[in-house]
Amino acid sequence: MKVILIAAMARHRVIGINNTLPWKLSADLKRFKSLTTGHTIVMGRKTFESLGRPLPSRRHICVSRKYPQNCLTPDENWPEQVFWCGDLSAALRLTEQQYVQNPDEPVFIIGGAEIYTQALPLADALELTQIDAEFKGDAFFPFFENLFAPEETTAGEESGLPYRFKRFRSLRPDNLIVRQAVSADAEFIVRSQIRMAAETEELKLSQDVVSKGVERVFQDPSKGEYLIAERIKLTGERVPAGCLLLQKEWSDWRNGVIEWMHSVYVVPDERRSGVFSWMYKVAGARVRSRGTLGLRLYVDRNNTPARDAYRIAGMHASHYDLFEDLF
Ligand SMILES: NC(=O)c1ccc[n+]([C@@H]2O[C@H](COP(=O)([O-])OP(=O)(O)OC[C@H]3O[C@@H](n4cnc5c(N)ncnc54)[C@H](OP(=O)(O)O)[C@@H]3O)[C@@H](O)[C@H]2O)c1
Repeated sequence: MKVILIAAMARHRVIGINNTLPWKLSADLKRFKSLTTGHTIVMGRKTFESLGRPLPSRRHICVSRKYPQNCLTPDENWPEQVFWCGDLSAALRLTEQQYVQNPDEPVFIIGGAEIYTQALPLADALELTQIDAEFKGDAFFPFFENLFAPEETTAGEESGLPYRFKRFRSLRPDNLIVRQAVSADAEFIVRSQIRMAAETEELKLSQDVVSKGVERVFQDPSKGEYLIAERIKLTGERVPAGCLLLQKEWSDWRNGVIEWMHSVYVVPDERRSGVFSWMYKVAGARVRSRGTLGLRLYVDRNNTPARDAYRIAGMHASHYDLFEDLF
């Protein structure tokens, strides 16, 4: 299965307003139709509502947290054509298991903003229509430039509106995905943190305390968000390869938010295979989409392999030292 994002974006990343498209561009609609007809399209609940009814000759997989995560539930009005799932990555996994016959079969992610943000690091390609004009908007395409490489561009104009159809391929390493963690990942995260403390500081953390600490992040998103890296085995099985926690800090110097990467862990077998670099890129795209000004982490001064991994990923050592007084 090839996961392809398809979107149209005006200047300043605008993709929608009041749950509709801000422009009329029939060349884009034609392209959308010709690429997606006969295939599966995946979308968020709000985008499905904006369509009003299913599009002909396409299977619709819609996501809403009101539905179970472990199955595709047929829609009560269009049970043959529209299915609902309570989680995006589960929706993609179930689509692949139930409907995809060959490895090159495309499945299109058609929006909106929330779904694009989550799907960027899972995608293989991006079909983007860039409209060179300004429109008012309340929905925006996420920062994607560090995750994709341009492949092909064609330009056109319609009713004075210049546009370009651009194709990008994902820079994602083979068989590796990074996604937002769900509470079912808590066990791996807890295990990772206990191992990391033992490995790097010879500290024995309390399983009970760490479990509660991790659980509270899932209960209260203001405490942060975990990302999980997964290796996809030849059998299709997904095995956790690493994790990190993003946390916001207000910077009065910059009048903006800096985010910290805490609890960074890569399982021993996966080290030196680009897992941290890709997690870092995905974290970067994610936080830039929400206007964050930069990423930071701290590392034990003696942890040379981790320091090397951070440099390889593109970070540099800061001139700050960390002081603390833990009570
Ligand atoms: N220009 C383009 O190419 C393009 C394409 C598509 C859409 N759009 C525009 O984008 C806007 C809509 O985007 P949006 O961000 O507001 O909404 P959206 O992404 O279409 O849908 C968001 C909804 O999807 C569900 N959802 C999100 N993440 C989920 C997850 N991980 N698991 C399960 N459900 C999940 C939630 O539904 P529940 O609240 O029900 O839980 C959430 O409220 C509209 O203006 C539309 O016109 C533009």
